[in-house]
Amino acid sequence: MISILFYKHQDDPAPWLADLARHLPQAQIRMWHPGDADPADYALVWKPPLELLQRRQGLKAVFNLGAGVDVLLGFLREHPFLLPPHVSLIKLDDAGMAAQMNHYVGQAVLRHFRQMDAYGQLKQEMRWHVLPPKIQADYPIGVMGLGALGTQVASYLAAMGFPVRGWSRSRKHLAGVQCYSGEETLPVFLDGLQALVNMMPLTAQTENMLDRTVFNCLARGAHLINVARGAQVVDDDLLAALSSGQLGGATLDAFRTEPLPSGHPFWREPRIAITPHIAALTERTESIRQIASKIEALEKGESVGGIVDLARGY
Ligand code: GLV
Repeated sequence: MISILFYKHQDDPAPWLADLARHLPQAQIRMWHPGDADPADYALVWKPPLELLQRRQGLKAVFNLGAGVDVLLGFLREHPFLLPPHVSLIKLDDAGMAAQMNHYVGQAVLRHFRQMDAYGQLKQEMRWHVLPPKIQADYPIGVMGLGALGTQVASYLAAMGFPVRGWSRSRKHLAGVQCYSGEETLPVFLDGLQALVNMMPLTAQTENMLDRTVFNCLARGAHLINVARGAQVVDDDLLAALSSGQLGGATLDAFRTEPLPSGHPFWREPRIAITPHIAALTERTESIRQIASKIEALEKGESVGGIVDLARGY
């Protein structure tokens, strides 16, 4: 019988365990508790403690119950022998997250493009005043990171009629999106963007990447949307760019420390919209369906998608 170990940080495990049992009736599924060192074929985890993976016998694959694998890769950096080479780390492949990202980024872009915050302010002042409209053809949007979610967001924004540029480390082709790849193309990609959407995985290369140099390449008054990881944004550079007017605003869903500490200046900056890391939540039903079918494929010796390239970091 296949044995599955489950752990999802800060979430009620009961509905997960019930749904998993329904989709994988042939498996023995258990929630991990401290001290459980028994063998398992598969571990399904989100932000697990290191102890869950250490010296785990029998493991065939680890499924990450989310898109970003930075927590697990952090463990692997500190403990390079944590997972034997035959154990794959597999991330969720969209599984309902892309649609959520489309909606979240879409609303942030439209709020800036249609100047809804400025109209909100005018309403506060009880003023009936028409602002000069922004022209869509003159509103280029850049999406950094063209993975499973970034490609869909870029296509979604293009379908809304915006000129869209995409940037990634490796070359991508995407209908309706002007694609750039490699560090050397970054200034051209960023030049004059009205909105910049961060959808990159957190790696050594992307940490602190969104800094004053990047902000200074954008159009004056541009909007930053971060739906990836907080550690990719240099907080002080963002605050300075907002103060100087180089950035007009930011919509942030991810932060260096989560929950965002109560004393953090982002809370008091009116030009920053804050959400508590909800842009794309893991959808239980879709994720379990995807993972169950991957486990069945792996058990038959078939290959599956979503395997993380550990050297690349995503
Ligand atoms: C959320 O941030 C995820 O990586 O799934």
